Amino acid sequence: MANSAENGSDKQRQLDPHRVDPEGKLTTDQGIGVDDTDNSLRAGERGPTLMEDFHLREKITHFDHERIPERVVHARGAGAYGHFHVYDGSLAEYTAADFLTDPSLSTPVFVRFSTVAGSRGSADTVRDVRGFATKFYTRQGNFDLVGNNMPVFFIQDAIKFPDFVHAVKPEPHNEIPQAASAHDTLWDFVQLQPETIHMMMWLMSDRALPRSFAMMQGFGVHTFRLVSAEGRATFVKFHWKPTLGTHSLDWDETQKIAGKDPDFNRRDLWDTIEAGHYPEYELCLQLVPEEDEHRFDFDLLDATKIIPEEQVPARPVGRLVLDRNPDNFFAETEQVAFHLGNVVPGIDFTNDPLLQGRLFSYLDTQLIRLGGPNFPQLPVNRPVAPVRNHQRDGYHQSDIHTGRAAYHKNTLSGGCPALAGDGAGPAPGAFTHYQERVDGNKIRKRSESFQDHYSQATLFWNSMADWEKAHIVAAFRFELGKVETVPIREGVVDHLNHVDHDLALRVAEGIGVEPPKPSNTPNHGRSSPALSQANAPRESV
Ligand code: HEM
Repeated sequence: MANSAENGSDKQRQLDPHRVDPEGKLTTDQGIGVDDTDNSLRAGERGPTLMEDFHLREKITHFDHERIPERVVHARGAGAYGHFHVYDGSLAEYTAADFLTDPSLSTPVFVRFSTVAGSRGSADTVRDVRGFATKFYTRQGNFDLVGNNMPVFFIQDAIKFPDFVHAVKPEPHNEIPQAASAHDTLWDFVQLQPETIHMMMWLMSDRALPRSFAMMQGFGVHTFRLVSAEGRATFVKFHWKPTLGTHSLDWDETQKIAGKDPDFNRRDLWDTIEAGHYPEYELCLQLVPEEDEHRFDFDLLDATKIIPEEQVPARPVGRLVLDRNPDNFFAETEQVAFHLGNVVPGIDFTNDPLLQGRLFSYLDTQLIRLGGPNFPQLPVNRPVAPVRNHQRDGYHQSDIHTGRAAYHKNTLSGGCPALAGDGAGPAPGAFTHYQERVDGNKIRKRSESFQDHYSQATLFWNSMADWEKAHIVAAFRFELGKVETVPIREGVVDHLNHVDHDLALRVAEGIGVEPPKPSNTPNHGRSSPALSQANAPRESV
């Protein structure tokens, strides 16, 4: 097949009989044997170094170019390979994805766990969200479930993501503080964006301090769609549940560990796999029929909300086992590229505005992080499904495409790849977008159904045991207590007062803020004094 990237090139293969191995000796990148790699070529023993020393120049040049940009978020991570099995074929009524319906399949996976705010060299045990990103190398192409260890997110619309991340990262003038949660800019953002409050409750809880990646839940966060072979859609939330249960570190432990072993979670993942104690997770699905879309008192498209499991149970459907460490951190864990848009037939998106913006962001950032459009050819990213298309050339192209013609349709290339269907409807093996009916005016306005920012934060607080509440209060006091700007502290306490009066009182008491009066009328984020101030028209200067 002339257009197939898996094909390689006959011309290259003709070199094979000539290949040699100079007995494992050190060579340059050109395969030239090296006799001395400790002394550069000099004019005389104490003389100047000579430009003609190609080995010196190549060695140093390569070193000079070793670094690539770290991820703009989730820079610090650890990865492992494994496999996924679905328990039985019962999901066939919901999805055409074969890795979710064929129990005879063992689907290879690569998982990367990460912290979000810290840089590549930061400590593992900081208070932060953890990424839980899974690449399924399915027979129908790669499916990436790019989730976190908390089921909700800070914002409802991806257009706020640059603002949010700028507020979370160290302040721009002095790059302080490295700690994600203890500074004015984050809490300023929080007080002005009440949609963050539910996620902030999770972030101040012990969920932000996982004991081990093997003891951490994962969540796809958004509502996705499963689509059956017949084209019927069902809303779905994806959950990973660790078989070891969910366990956290205590705050004091995290502080000591960060100093003594900043690689604590990463080392634990590596060591447990080497020891044969493989981390395992059960995949659970919450399924909601399309006709039930509006039966909840929150919006399924709002990523700051969970679907309570009392309302829709999480159904166990399969098992993930991580049983192989990578061979090379950079080649695999650093260069892996997850993308929410990598879906297979049978899994589709919804109109969640956070999800929709993510669909743009991942590929865009990887184009710069991984140096151009050919990073899907890197071994860790390459699908096990064949790749056949007319995408060509570009930086770091390592496939050797053959044939005269690189366009669709053609008769000249000895086998232009055929389409799986005629584009008019579902075709076996091809991805066809779910034909959702969409009708609306072009507006920049959030639906009223996205406006309740407190009810689920209250639900979360009420679900906590007394000792868990004490940890949450202590976390708010510690993190907010570091905020220098008093009105920001007050603004956050005002929001907490809409979550729970006792919570607000206890936090206020610990950070020198006036205790608030009880709030009987949750304002749903629409009338906070700080908000009206920030939104007030400014006088022009
Ligand atoms: C990276 C999860 C929201 C942009 C990641 C990673 C995870 C993740 C797990 C690390 C992937 C890896 O290990 O390589 C999430 C979740 C979100 C969310 C669960 C909300 C539910 C967003 C939004 C945006 C965004 C709204 C932008 C609009 C990025 C970018 C990266 C990233 C640019 C770096 C990717 C790379 O360089 O490979 N995210 N994210 N994320 N995320 Fe998100």
